[in-house]
Amino acid sequence: MNNAEEYNQPLGLDVGTSRIVVARCADGKYEYESQLNAFLTLPYSKLAASLLQRENVFHEVKGTEIVVFGNDAQKFAEIFHAEARRPMVGGVLNPQEPHALAVLRAIIRKLVGTAASGGQKVFFSVPAPLANAKDGVSYHEASIHQILTELGFEATPIEEGLAVVFGELGGANYTGIGVSCGSGLCNVCLAVLSVPVISFSLPKAGDFIDEQAALVTGELATRMRVQKEDGFHLNGMSGDRVRNALTVYYGEMIANLVETLRGEIASTRRLPKLDQSIPLVLSGGTVLPKGFLEHFQQALRAADFPLRLSEVRVSGDALNSTARGALMAALC
Ligand SMILES: Nc1ncnc2c1ncn2[C@@H]1O[C@H](COP(=O)(O)OP(=O)(O)OP(=O)(O)O)[C@@H](O)[C@H]1O
Ligand SMILES: [Mg+2]
Repeated sequence: MNNAEEYNQPLGLDVGTSRIVVARCADGKYEYESQLNAFLTLPYSKLAASLLQRENVFHEVKGTEIVVFGNDAQKFAEIFHAEARRPMVGGVLNPQEPHALAVLRAIIRKLVGTAASGGQKVFFSVPAPLANAKDGVSYHEASIHQILTELGFEATPIEEGLAVVFGELGGANYTGIGVSCGSGLCNVCLAVLSVPVISFSLPKAGDFIDEQAALVTGELATRMRVQKEDGFHLNGMSGDRVRNALTVYYGEMIANLVETLRGEIASTRRLPKLDQSIPLVLSGGTVLPKGFLEHFQQALRAADFPLRLSEVRVSGDALNSTARGALMAALC
Protein backbone atom coordinates (compact mmCIF):
# COMPACT_ATOMS: atom_id res chain seq x y z
CA MET A 1 0.00 0.00 0.00
CA ASN A 2 1.45 3.38 -0.88
CA ASN A 3 -1.63 5.37 -1.60
CA ALA A 4 -1.52 8.82 0.03
CA GLU A 5 -5.26 8.63 0.82
CA GLU A 6 -5.23 5.29 2.70
CA TYR A 7 -2.03 5.68 4.67
CA ASN A 8 -2.36 7.11 8.19
CA GLN A 9 1.06 6.30 9.70
CA PRO A 10 4.01 8.73 10.01
CA LEU A 11 5.79 9.92 6.87
CA GLY A 12 9.33 10.96 6.00
CA LEU A 13 9.74 13.70 3.40
CA ASP A 14 12.99 14.72 1.75
CA VAL A 15 12.58 18.18 0.25
CA GLY A 16 15.66 18.27 -1.98
CA THR A 17 16.86 20.87 -4.48
CA SER A 18 16.59 18.33 -7.25
CA ARG A 19 14.09 15.73 -6.02
CA ILE A 20 11.32 15.46 -3.43
CA VAL A 21 10.93 11.98 -1.94
CA VAL A 22 8.31 10.61 0.42
CA ALA A 23 8.92 7.48 2.50
CA ARG A 24 6.20 5.31 4.03
CA CYS A 25 6.42 2.17 6.08
CA ALA A 26 3.77 -0.41 5.31
CA ASP A 27 3.79 -4.00 6.58
CA GLY A 28 7.34 -3.53 7.84
CA LYS A 29 8.58 -2.46 4.39
CA TYR A 30 9.78 0.98 3.31
CA GLU A 31 8.21 2.42 0.20
CA TYR A 32 9.27 5.52 -1.69
CA GLU A 33 7.72 7.86 -4.22
CA SER A 34 9.54 10.80 -5.77
CA GLN A 35 9.08 13.72 -8.13
CA LEU A 36 11.70 15.96 -9.68
CA ASN A 37 11.59 19.35 -7.97
CA ALA A 38 11.03 21.15 -11.27
CA PHE A 39 8.37 22.79 -13.40
CA LEU A 40 7.68 24.26 -16.80
CA THR A 41 5.08 26.78 -17.99
CA LEU A 42 3.17 26.61 -21.28
CA PRO A 43 0.79 29.23 -22.67
CA TYR A 44 -2.81 28.34 -21.79
CA SER A 45 -5.16 27.07 -24.46
CA LYS A 46 -8.32 25.11 -23.91
CA LEU A 47 -7.11 22.37 -26.24
CA ALA A 48 -3.68 22.00 -24.57
CA ALA A 49 -5.31 21.91 -21.11
CA SER A 50 -7.76 19.18 -22.10
CA LEU A 51 -5.02 17.13 -23.82
CA LEU A 52 -2.83 17.30 -20.71
CA GLN A 53 -5.82 16.32 -18.59
CA ARG A 54 -6.57 13.35 -20.84
CA GLU A 55 -2.93 12.22 -20.80
CA ASN A 56 -2.86 12.43 -17.01
CA VAL A 57 0.01 14.95 -17.02
CA PHE A 58 0.73 16.45 -13.58
CA HIS A 59 -0.26 20.11 -14.12
CA GLU A 60 -2.43 23.05 -13.03
CA VAL A 61 -3.90 25.94 -14.97
CA LYS A 62 -2.81 29.30 -13.51
CA GLY A 63 -4.38 32.26 -15.34
CA THR A 64 -2.87 32.48 -18.80
CA GLU A 65 -0.39 29.68 -18.14
CA ILE A 66 -0.35 25.94 -17.70
CA VAL A 67 2.22 24.83 -15.11
CA VAL A 68 3.56 21.29 -15.60
CA PHE A 69 5.23 19.85 -12.48
CA GLY A 70 7.74 17.24 -11.40
CA ASN A 71 8.82 14.32 -13.59
CA ASP A 72 6.42 15.43 -16.32
CA ALA A 73 8.12 18.86 -16.45
CA GLN A 74 11.40 17.16 -17.35
CA LYS A 75 9.71 15.11 -20.09
CA PHE A 76 8.15 18.24 -21.58
CA ALA A 77 11.44 20.14 -21.35
CA GLU A 78 13.08 17.41 -23.46
CA ILE A 79 10.25 17.46 -26.02
CA PHE A 80 10.36 21.25 -26.39
CA HIS A 81 14.17 21.60 -26.02
CA ALA A 82 13.57 23.90 -23.06
CA GLU A 83 15.07 24.01 -19.58
CA ALA A 84 12.81 22.91 -16.73
CA ARG A 85 12.76 25.60 -14.02
CA ARG A 86 13.55 24.85 -10.38
CA PRO A 87 11.77 26.16 -7.28
CA MET A 88 14.80 25.57 -5.08
CA VAL A 89 18.45 26.48 -5.35
CA GLY A 90 21.27 25.70 -2.91
CA GLY A 91 18.98 23.65 -0.65
CA VAL A 92 16.37 26.38 -0.06
CA LEU A 93 13.52 28.18 -1.87
CA ASN A 94 14.82 29.99 -4.95
CA PRO A 95 14.40 33.74 -4.25
CA GLN A 96 14.52 34.52 -8.00
CA GLU A 97 11.57 32.24 -8.78
CA PRO A 98 8.12 33.76 -8.21
CA HIS A 99 6.41 30.37 -8.73
CA ALA A 100 8.62 28.63 -6.13
CA LEU A 101 6.14 28.24 -3.28
CA ALA A 102 3.16 27.32 -5.44
CA VAL A 103 5.20 24.63 -7.23
CA LEU A 104 6.52 23.16 -3.99
CA ARG A 105 2.98 23.13 -2.59
CA ALA A 106 1.68 21.24 -5.64
CA ILE A 107 4.48 18.65 -5.66
CA ILE A 108 4.34 18.06 -1.90
CA ARG A 109 0.56 17.70 -1.99
CA LYS A 110 0.84 15.20 -4.86
CA LEU A 111 3.31 13.09 -2.85
CA VAL A 112 1.82 13.22 0.67
CA GLY A 113 -1.87 14.00 0.00
CA THR A 114 -3.85 15.44 2.88
CA ALA A 115 -3.41 14.04 6.38
CA ALA A 116 -5.53 10.94 6.96
CA SER A 117 -6.11 11.85 10.60
CA GLY A 118 -5.54 14.95 12.71
CA GLY A 119 -1.97 14.91 13.92
CA GLN A 120 -0.56 12.49 11.32
CA LYS A 121 3.18 12.99 11.70
CA VAL A 122 5.60 13.99 8.98
CA PHE A 123 9.30 14.72 9.45
CA PHE A 124 10.71 16.82 6.59
CA SER A 125 14.36 17.44 5.73
CA VAL A 126 15.93 20.88 5.95
CA PRO A 127 19.53 21.88 5.29
CA ALA A 128 21.90 22.59 8.15
CA PRO A 129 23.27 26.15 8.25
CA LEU A 130 25.98 26.81 5.69
CA ALA A 131 29.48 26.61 7.16
CA ASN A 132 30.76 30.20 7.46
CA ALA A 133 27.94 31.89 5.57
CA LYS A 134 24.46 33.36 5.75
CA ASP A 135 21.54 31.44 4.29
CA GLY A 136 17.77 31.41 3.98
CA VAL A 137 17.07 28.24 5.94
CA SER A 138 14.62 29.73 8.47
CA TYR A 139 12.29 31.13 5.80
CA HIS A 140 12.54 27.93 3.76
CA GLU A 141 11.80 25.75 6.80
CA ALA A 142 8.82 27.90 7.85
CA SER A 143 7.40 27.77 4.31
CA ILE A 144 7.55 23.95 4.08
CA HIS A 145 6.16 23.68 7.60
CA GLN A 146 3.22 25.85 6.59
CA ILE A 147 2.50 23.82 3.44
CA LEU A 148 2.40 20.60 5.48
CA THR A 149 0.32 22.18 8.27
CA GLU A 150 -2.23 23.38 5.72
CA LEU A 151 -2.47 19.78 4.48
CA GLY A 152 -3.35 18.73 8.06
CA PHE A 153 -0.02 17.23 9.14
CA GLU A 154 1.91 17.65 12.35
CA ALA A 155 5.20 18.62 10.72
CA THR A 156 8.69 18.53 12.25
CA PRO A 157 11.91 19.59 10.52
CA ILE A 158 15.00 17.38 10.66
CA GLU A 159 18.41 18.38 9.36
CA GLU A 160 19.38 16.31 6.36
CA GLY A 161 22.68 14.99 7.78
CA LEU A 162 20.90 13.84 10.95
CA ALA A 163 18.24 12.14 8.81
CA VAL A 164 21.06 10.18 7.14
CA VAL A 165 22.31 9.12 10.59
CA PHE A 166 18.77 7.89 11.42
CA GLY A 167 18.42 6.14 8.07
CA GLU A 168 21.82 4.47 7.95
CA LEU A 169 23.40 4.17 11.38
CA GLY A 170 20.77 2.37 13.49
CA GLY A 171 23.24 -0.51 13.86
CA ALA A 172 25.78 1.86 15.42
CA ASN A 173 23.32 3.27 18.00
CA TYR A 174 22.86 6.34 15.81
CA THR A 175 26.45 7.34 16.44
CA GLY A 176 28.61 8.40 13.52
CA ILE A 177 28.80 10.79 10.60
CA GLY A 178 26.00 11.06 8.05
CA VAL A 179 26.77 12.84 4.79
CA SER A 180 24.34 13.63 2.00
CA CYS A 181 25.83 15.00 -1.23
CA GLY A 182 22.85 16.25 -3.21
CA SER A 183 22.50 18.76 -6.00
CA GLY A 184 22.37 22.06 -4.11
CA LEU A 185 24.36 21.15 -1.02
CA CYS A 186 26.42 18.65 0.89
CA ASN A 187 24.90 18.17 4.34
CA VAL A 188 26.95 16.69 7.15
CA CYS A 189 26.07 15.65 10.70
CA LEU A 190 28.18 14.04 13.40
CA ALA A 191 25.78 12.55 15.94
CA VAL A 192 26.32 10.67 19.18
CA LEU A 193 23.43 8.45 20.31
CA SER A 194 21.16 10.31 17.86
CA VAL A 195 22.10 13.74 19.29
CA PRO A 196 23.66 16.06 16.70
CA VAL A 197 27.05 17.39 17.78
CA ILE A 198 28.29 19.00 14.57
CA SER A 199 26.00 19.88 11.69
CA PHE A 200 26.72 22.02 8.64
CA SER A 201 26.16 22.28 4.91
CA LEU A 202 28.38 23.23 1.97
CA PRO A 203 27.34 24.79 -1.33
CA LYS A 204 29.67 22.72 -3.52
CA ALA A 205 27.63 19.69 -4.62
CA GLY A 206 26.09 18.30 -7.84
CA ASP A 207 24.94 21.62 -9.31
CA PHE A 208 28.38 23.14 -8.65
CA ILE A 209 30.00 20.30 -10.62
CA ASP A 210 27.53 20.71 -13.53
CA GLU A 211 27.86 24.51 -13.64
CA GLN A 212 31.66 24.58 -13.45
CA ALA A 213 32.07 21.79 -16.00
CA ALA A 214 29.66 23.67 -18.31
CA LEU A 215 31.65 26.87 -17.89
CA VAL A 216 34.97 25.37 -18.95
CA THR A 217 33.62 23.22 -21.80
CA GLY A 218 31.16 25.77 -23.23
CA GLU A 219 28.33 23.26 -22.90
CA LEU A 220 24.99 23.54 -21.09
CA ALA A 221 24.87 22.55 -17.42
CA THR A 222 21.97 20.18 -18.17
CA ARG A 223 24.15 18.34 -20.72
CA MET A 224 26.89 18.00 -18.11
CA ARG A 225 24.35 16.61 -15.70
CA VAL A 226 23.12 14.01 -18.19
CA GLN A 227 26.68 12.86 -18.93
CA LYS A 228 27.53 12.77 -15.22
CA GLU A 229 24.51 10.60 -14.45
CA ASP A 230 25.07 8.33 -17.43
CA GLY A 231 27.81 5.99 -16.27
CA PHE A 232 30.44 8.61 -15.42
CA HIS A 233 33.33 6.91 -13.65
CA LEU A 234 35.62 8.87 -11.34
CA ASN A 235 38.87 7.21 -12.42
CA GLY A 236 41.27 9.95 -13.37
CA MET A 237 41.90 12.07 -16.45
CA SER A 238 41.32 10.75 -19.96
CA GLY A 239 41.14 12.08 -23.51
CA ASP A 240 37.54 13.27 -23.08
CA ARG A 241 37.26 16.94 -22.08
CA VAL A 242 33.78 16.67 -20.53
CA ARG A 243 34.85 13.73 -18.38
CA ASN A 244 38.01 15.59 -17.44
CA ALA A 245 36.03 18.67 -16.41
CA LEU A 246 33.65 16.54 -14.33
CA THR A 247 36.65 14.79 -12.72
CA VAL A 248 38.32 18.10 -11.80
CA TYR A 249 35.20 19.57 -10.18
CA TYR A 250 34.30 16.32 -8.42
CA GLY A 251 37.82 16.45 -6.99
CA GLU A 252 37.28 20.03 -5.84
CA MET A 253 33.95 19.15 -4.23
CA ILE A 254 35.38 16.16 -2.36
CA ALA A 255 38.44 18.12 -1.18
CA ASN A 256 36.17 20.92 0.06
CA LEU A 257 33.94 18.45 1.91
CA VAL A 258 36.79 16.60 3.62
CA GLU A 259 38.71 19.76 4.51
CA THR A 260 35.63 21.47 6.01
CA LEU A 261 34.68 18.34 7.95
CA ARG A 262 38.22 18.04 9.29
CA GLY A 263 38.26 21.73 10.25
CA GLU A 264 34.83 21.64 11.93
CA ILE A 265 35.76 18.58 14.02
CA ALA A 266 39.18 19.92 14.92
CA SER A 267 37.74 23.28 16.05
CA THR A 268 34.82 21.92 18.08
CA ARG A 269 35.37 22.47 21.77
CA ARG A 270 32.41 20.38 22.86
CA LEU A 271 33.41 17.21 20.99
CA PRO A 272 32.28 14.30 23.19
CA LYS A 273 34.79 11.71 24.28
CA LEU A 274 34.45 8.83 21.86
CA ASP A 275 35.98 5.60 23.16
CA GLN A 276 35.37 3.77 19.94
CA SER A 277 35.90 4.57 16.31
CA ILE A 278 32.72 5.65 14.49
CA PRO A 279 31.28 4.95 11.03
CA LEU A 280 30.83 7.48 8.23
CA VAL A 281 28.18 6.94 5.58
CA LEU A 282 27.88 8.75 2.25
CA SER A 283 24.51 9.25 0.56
CA GLY A 284 22.73 11.47 -1.98
CA GLY A 285 22.82 11.31 -5.77
CA THR A 286 26.27 12.90 -6.08
CA VAL A 287 28.01 9.92 -4.42
CA LEU A 288 26.72 7.48 -7.06
CA PRO A 289 29.53 7.46 -9.67
CA LYS A 290 31.93 4.55 -9.43
CA GLY A 291 35.17 5.65 -7.81
CA PHE A 292 33.56 8.25 -5.50
CA LEU A 293 34.23 6.22 -2.35
CA GLU A 294 37.89 5.64 -3.28
CA HIS A 295 38.41 9.35 -3.97
CA PHE A 296 36.76 10.29 -0.71
CA GLN A 297 38.88 7.82 1.26
CA GLN A 298 42.03 9.09 -0.40
CA ALA A 299 41.14 12.68 0.57
CA LEU A 300 40.47 11.55 4.17
CA ARG A 301 43.87 9.88 4.39
CA ALA A 302 45.60 12.96 3.03
CA ALA A 303 43.75 15.22 5.49
CA ASP A 304 45.05 13.60 8.67
CA PHE A 305 41.50 13.16 9.92
CA PRO A 306 41.07 13.94 13.64
CA LEU A 307 38.66 11.05 14.44
CA ARG A 308 39.08 7.29 14.14
CA LEU A 309 36.61 5.89 11.63
CA SER A 310 35.45 2.27 11.89
CA GLU A 311 34.20 2.24 8.30
CA VAL A 312 33.50 4.58 5.42
CA ARG A 313 30.78 3.37 3.10
CA VAL A 314 28.28 4.47 0.48
CA SER A 315 24.60 3.93 1.31
CA GLY A 316 23.00 0.97 -0.44
CA ASP A 317 20.06 3.23 -1.37
CA ALA A 318 21.68 6.65 -1.64
CA LEU A 319 18.76 8.45 -3.31
CA ASN A 320 16.23 7.46 -0.60
CA SER A 321 18.46 7.67 2.46
CA THR A 322 17.26 11.09 3.68
CA ALA A 323 13.55 10.26 3.27
CA ARG A 324 14.03 6.91 5.03
CA GLY A 325 15.87 8.60 7.93
CA ALA A 326 13.19 11.28 8.25
CA LEU A 327 10.61 8.49 8.43
CA MET A 328 12.59 6.61 11.05
CA ALA A 329 12.84 9.78 13.13
CA ALA A 330 9.07 10.26 12.78
CA LEU A 331 8.48 6.66 13.92
CA CYS A 332 10.63 7.08 17.06
N1 LIG B 1 23.84 8.16 -11.20
C1 LIG B 1 24.28 9.36 -10.86
N2 LIG B 1 25.58 9.69 -11.04
C2 LIG B 1 26.04 10.92 -10.71
N3 LIG B 1 25.27 11.89 -10.20
C3 LIG B 1 23.98 11.61 -10.01
C4 LIG B 1 23.40 10.35 -10.33
N4 LIG B 1 22.08 10.38 -10.02
C5 LIG B 1 21.85 11.63 -9.54
N5 LIG B 1 22.97 12.36 -9.53
C6 LIG B 1 23.16 13.75 -9.10
O1 LIG B 1 22.75 13.84 -7.75
C7 LIG B 1 22.17 15.11 -7.49
C8 LIG B 1 20.80 14.88 -6.93
O2 LIG B 1 20.95 14.16 -5.74
P1 LIG B 1 19.83 14.18 -4.61
O3 LIG B 1 18.55 13.70 -5.15
O4 LIG B 1 20.42 13.47 -3.44
O5 LIG B 1 19.76 15.75 -4.35
P2 LIG B 1 18.68 16.59 -3.56
O6 LIG B 1 18.38 15.89 -2.29
O7 LIG B 1 17.51 16.87 -4.44
O8 LIG B 1 19.47 17.96 -3.32
P3 LIG B 1 19.93 18.68 -1.97
O9 LIG B 1 19.99 17.67 -0.89
O10 LIG B 1 21.27 19.26 -2.31
O11 LIG B 1 18.92 19.75 -1.73
C9 LIG B 1 22.13 15.85 -8.83
O12 LIG B 1 23.24 16.73 -8.91
C10 LIG B 1 22.25 14.72 -9.84
O13 LIG B 1 22.86 15.16 -11.05
MG1 LIG C 1 19.21 15.91 -0.43
